[in-house]
Amino acid sequence: MPRIACYPGTFDPITNGHIDIITRCAKLYDSIIVGVAQNDKKNPLFSFAERMQLTEQVLGAMPNVKVHGFGELTIEFARKHSAQVILRGLRAVSDFDFEFQLAAMNRKMATDVETVFIPASATDAYISSSLVREIAALNGDVSEFVPQVVATALYNKLRGG
Ligand code: COA
Repeated sequence: MPRIACYPGTFDPITNGHIDIITRCAKLYDSIIVGVAQNDKKNPLFSFAERMQLTEQVLGAMPNVKVHGFGELTIEFARKHSAQVILRGLRAVSDFDFEFQLAAMNRKMATDVETVFIPASATDAYISSSLVREIAALNGDVSEFVPQVVATALYNKLRGG
C-alpha cells in the first residue's frame, strides 16, 4: 500500500517554512497531497484560485507532490485522497496547544487517519504567512522567507494588482 500523507493549510501565501516541511516529508512518504483550504473565515489576502496557483507553481517540480483545493473537513479530504496521515508543522511550543486540539478532534472523527507533527527547521521557525504579508505590505524585503514568484505576487497584490 503506498504511504500517502496530506498537508493541509491556508497557504496565504506558501512560505519557505511550508516548503521545508513538504520537501522533508516528500522523502518519507510515497506521495504528499498538499491541501489548499478555501478557509474564507480567515479572510485571506489571496483568493482561493490565487493561493492554488501560487502553491502549484512553487511545488510543480516535485514529482511526488500534488496540490488540491478543498472546502470540506480535513479528514474527508485525507480520505478522498487515500491519505493515512495528516502532516502538521510545529514551529514553537506556542503552536502545540492548537495543533494538539486539532489533532485530537480529527482523531475523534476519524480513527483511520493519524496526525504526524514535523518540527520546523530552526532557520524557518519564525516564519508565518501573516508576518510575511505584513512585511510586504510595509515594503519590507520578503525574499528570504518566500520564493521569488510569491514575493512578486505579494507586491503586485498589495499594490492593487
Ligand atoms: N512554516 C511557515 N508557516 C507555518 C508553518 C511552517 N512550517 N506551520 C504553520 N505555519 C503558519 C502559517 O503560515 C499560518 O500563519 P498565519 O496564521 O500567520 O497566516 C499559521 O501557521 C497557520 O496556518 P495553516 O498551517 O495554514 O493552518 P490554519 O490554522 O490556517 O488551518 C487547516 C488550516 C486547513 C488545517 C484548518 O483550517 C482545517 O482543518 N480546515 C478544514 C476544516 C476542518 O477540518 N475543521 C475541523 C478541524 S478539527
